[in-house]
Amino acid sequence: MKITVIYGTSRTERSSTYNIARQFIAELAGGDPVTEFHLPKDMPNFCTGCFNCFSDNTTCPHYTYIKPIADAMLNADLLIIAAPVYVFHVPGQVKALLDHFGYQWMAHKPRAAFFKKQALVITTAAGAGMRHAVKDVQDSFDWWGVGRTYSFKKAVQASEWRQVSNKTREEIALEVKATSQKILKQRGSAPRLKVRLIFYLMRFVQNKYRYSASDAAYWKENGWFDGKKPW
Ligand SMILES: Cc1cc2nc3c(=O)[nH]c(=O)nc-3n(C[C@H](O)[C@H](O)[C@H](O)COP(=O)(O)O)c2cc1C
Repeated sequence: MKITVIYGTSRTERSSTYNIARQFIAELAGGDPVTEFHLPKDMPNFCTGCFNCFSDNTTCPHYTYIKPIADAMLNADLLIIAAPVYVFHVPGQVKALLDHFGYQWMAHKPRAAFFKKQALVITTAAGAGMRHAVKDVQDSFDWWGVGRTYSFKKAVQASEWRQVSNKTREEIALEVKATSQKILKQRGSAPRLKVRLIFYLMRFVQNKYRYSASDAAYWKENGWFDGKKPW
C-alpha cells in the first residue's frame, strides 16, 4: 500500500519511534511508494492565524511546505505519524504541522479522498503520556475524515533505540505484525462509526447554519447536502 509517513522529530537510527515506523513500513508497503517527511525540517513554521486557508488553502503563507505534504497524503492509502511523547503530548512541531491542516477538518472542507484511507499513530515514551500523544494526532485524522485510525503505543523505558531491551523489542515485533494484519484486512472498508457520525453532524451544521458561505458552497458542490457520501 502507498504510505506517507511523517516523523515527528529529526532523529532516525537512534530513535525508537523511527525504528518502529520502519518495521510497519516493511510489513505494509509491499513494494508501493513510501513518501517520508521529517519535522521540523520539512515544515518548520508555526501557523500565523491569518485564516487564509479556510477560504483558499493555497494562500497559506507556508504553502510551499504544506503543498508537498498535502499532496503526498492525498496520494497515499495509509498515513503514518510517528512521534515520541514530549511532556505528555506530541512534540510541538507535530502540533504546528496539524494546525496548518485545520482547513480540511469536517467543520470546514474535508477532502473526500480521506474517507477511504487509513492512518496509524505511532508513539513511544519512557513510561507515560502516550494516550494524550495519540489523541493529539488522532483528533486531526478523525476530523479530516480518515476512515480508520490505529495506534501503536510503547513504553520503551529508554531514551534511544539501542537501549531498548530484547524483551521489549520482541513484544514490539509481534505487536507490529498484529496491527499490520488489521490494517491490511480493513483496506477499502467504509469509515468507522465515529467518522461517519462526525460527517453527519457536520453536514447538519453546514446545511442549517451556513456559518461560512465558502464552506457551505464546498459541501454543496460535492453533493453532500443531496445525500451523496464521500466514501
Ligand atoms: C523533551 C522530552 C520530553 C519527554 N517527555 C516524556 C514524558 O512526558 N513521558 C515519558 O514517558 N517520556 C518522555 N520523554 C522520553 C521519550 O518520550 C522517550 O525516550 C521516547 O522513546 C523517545 O523517542 P525517540 O527515541 O523516538 O526519540 C521525553 C523526552 C524528551 C526529549
